[in-house]
Amino acid sequence: MNAQAPNSRGQQQEQWMDSSPKPRDWSWPFWHAVPLYPYGRRRTLCREILHHSIWTFDQLQGTLYTVVPIRMTVIKLSSGGFLVYAPVAPTRECIRILKELVALHGDVKYIILPTSSGLEHKVFVGPFARCFPSSQVFVAPHQWSFPFNLPLSWLGFPQKRTQVLPEDISEAPFSDDFDYAVLDINLGQGAFGEVALLHKRSRTLLVTDSILSVSEDPPAIVQLDPYPLLFHSRDNASEVIENNEANRRKGWQRISLFAIYFRPSALSMTGLWQMLRDALKAPDHSAKAYFGLFPFRWKENWKQSFDALRGQGRPFVAPILQTLILPQAPKQVLDWADKIATWDFQQIISCHFDSPIEVLPHQFRNCFNFLEKKPDTIVNISESPNHPLPEEDFRFIRELEAGLIRSGIATPVSEKASAATDSDIKGSFL
Ligand SMILES: [Fe+2]
Repeated sequence: MNAQAPNSRGQQQEQWMDSSPKPRDWSWPFWHAVPLYPYGRRRTLCREILHHSIWTFDQLQGTLYTVVPIRMTVIKLSSGGFLVYAPVAPTRECIRILKELVALHGDVKYIILPTSSGLEHKVFVGPFARCFPSSQVFVAPHQWSFPFNLPLSWLGFPQKRTQVLPEDISEAPFSDDFDYAVLDINLGQGAFGEVALLHKRSRTLLVTDSILSVSEDPPAIVQLDPYPLLFHSRDNASEVIENNEANRRKGWQRISLFAIYFRPSALSMTGLWQMLRDALKAPDHSAKAYFGLFPFRWKENWKQSFDALRGQGRPFVAPILQTLILPQAPKQVLDWADKIATWDFQQIISCHFDSPIEVLPHQFRNCFNFLEKKPDTIVNISESPNHPLPEEDFRFIRELEAGLIRSGIATPVSEKASAATDSDIKGSFL
């Protein structure tokens, strides 16, 4: 396997592995199960995070060219072989790279599905496990699927090799190298679950969806095909965009605002007739360019919105989780975060956005301070002392929440928040 140059951030310990130039190696024939961009062609970028110890495998997912990384982490066990956290699509390219590592370090022994609700992670586990027939699969408790609640074997999980993660870590066969803490929230219609996994030797914490950090520049996996970046870097439908670093960065920053807020405050939408009139002037009317349809208008302050979102790379909890999910069980979440904060770690690898991110235990814990509010107050990370997320960018998600409460799907936060402690905020936000 050939290692390539360190990445642009100059992190010398990181090495890129060869990816395949052959499109047939990117093929993912089962994309219909979760029909997200890039559909049947998923490229993989593998990076060695820690020499002969930790590798990440990035692929891409999104809709309407709002594309973000989705990530699998592979960790070498002290006894040889690997533990795999949150598998991605087992394309020929992905499996070839991993089998090169297997030839050097031993087989895949354990596969972790660290979420009960994240279909974008769950859908790959069965097919991935079948590529490594001697592996054992461990899943977060209370698995469910939508729109039909199918048993895991129907989703392709190997029945005889799949089990729920033991409640007691000492019963897990990888407890010498790892610790874990399971967050398992009953949402009524299903569960939100996440397994935080600590690799003790490297002091690395793995999380799935709970913690994010947004990079200034587009991640490497997003730059392999810059079309989505350039699509979103435009200011109007008729603009012809040059493929250069500045435009790719601009596109990524707007994509980040979309992906995290859904409808950021710095965005306005044109009306239907204006959108159609603009489409007539568009230089490209292909299906790839959505026939020239481009209803987005960014306000002048969009870059300030992005800078506030990025907050110089500090970790944070996604607004959708802050608003809709985690306030449903604040005490459970805080207990989980408290437990993790007692562990010794120096970096986090998350399944989305930037990775790895330098985070200490108290900084991880502070990401959940938004839950430590008196009942009836609005949950808002913007009250954190540094790098607040602007309240106006939460508006769409709060409207979504109000709609779900009206329809009886969600419970008002005030009814749940009484379970949360009103303890002092511990430490300061990054
Ligand atoms: Fe996810």
